[in-house]
Amino acid sequence: MANEQLYKKFAGYYDKIYGKLDHQKESEFIKWAVNKHGNSKSNLLLDIACGTGRHANLLKNNFEILGVDINKEMLDIARDKMPDVEFITGDMKKLNLRRKFDAVICMYSAINYNVTFEELELTLKNFHDHLNDAGVLIFDMGINKENWTEGNVSVDTVVDGNLKLARISKAHLENGVLNSNFVFLIKDNGKIDFDVDEHKLGVFEIKKVIELMESIGFDTFIYSDFKDEVYEIGNGERPVFVGVK
Ligand SMILES: C[S@@+](CC[C@H](N)C(=O)[O-])C[C@H]1O[C@@H](n2cnc3c(N)ncnc32)[C@H](O)[C@@H]1O
Repeated sequence: MANEQLYKKFAGYYDKIYGKLDHQKESEFIKWAVNKHGNSKSNLLLDIACGTGRHANLLKNNFEILGVDINKEMLDIARDKMPDVEFITGDMKKLNLRRKFDAVICMYSAINYNVTFEELELTLKNFHDHLNDAGVLIFDMGINKENWTEGNVSVDTVVDGNLKLARISKAHLENGVLNSNFVFLIKDNGKIDFDVDEHKLGVFEIKKVIELMESIGFDTFIYSDFKDEVYEIGNGERPVFVGVK
């Protein structure tokens, strides 16, 4: 399934499913990392694969933000929340905005939508091209070889007023690619719906990603789960990459 088809039907449920994530902590980390690694006047921020604008909403008072996503339905939700922020449709693998930014972020494993290592390389080069000198790239890679558990089943549930929703997926690698079929079961205002959202995600070795970042020209740091703590391979936490141009 093409990436622009993803989340189409379910964009409206995204914020409910991911409501448990700590957006505040992630956004505080972004501000901290840009301040620590970038230059003090940094305020132009490109939010790639911005989704429904979870981070833009918390960062818009600190940065001038441009949000980009491949999915129009996700962007419509972001625009409704933040009419004062610019959001445009775009594909991270082909982005050519002819504008440069002080920070580029790509959050919540959106980087894994690069399915092959070659795609990841193109995308990271693209991010590098969109940064000013001393600009900072931040992305997390929750899905990676080191924390992979084949066959792991995850179930997310939402019960909210007249909405009952379950999203079920099973971790299965095929030729190094995660074919994640998210099965949705929904009862919304008495109406029952069922569908499958098919996501293909690349699963990469952290060490190889560090080498790739360095070869592109990023000074690379990895933090543990949005904390001021160095990530150690195998510590089971979410690696958060910070690359400085
Ligand atoms: C897990 S969501 C993350 C959204 C947001 N960054 C957040 O933290 O809530 C992944 C997002 O990546 C977007 N996406 C997938 N492939 C993309 C691509 N090639 N270019 C731009 N956005 C993409 C999806 O439409 C979706 O909004």
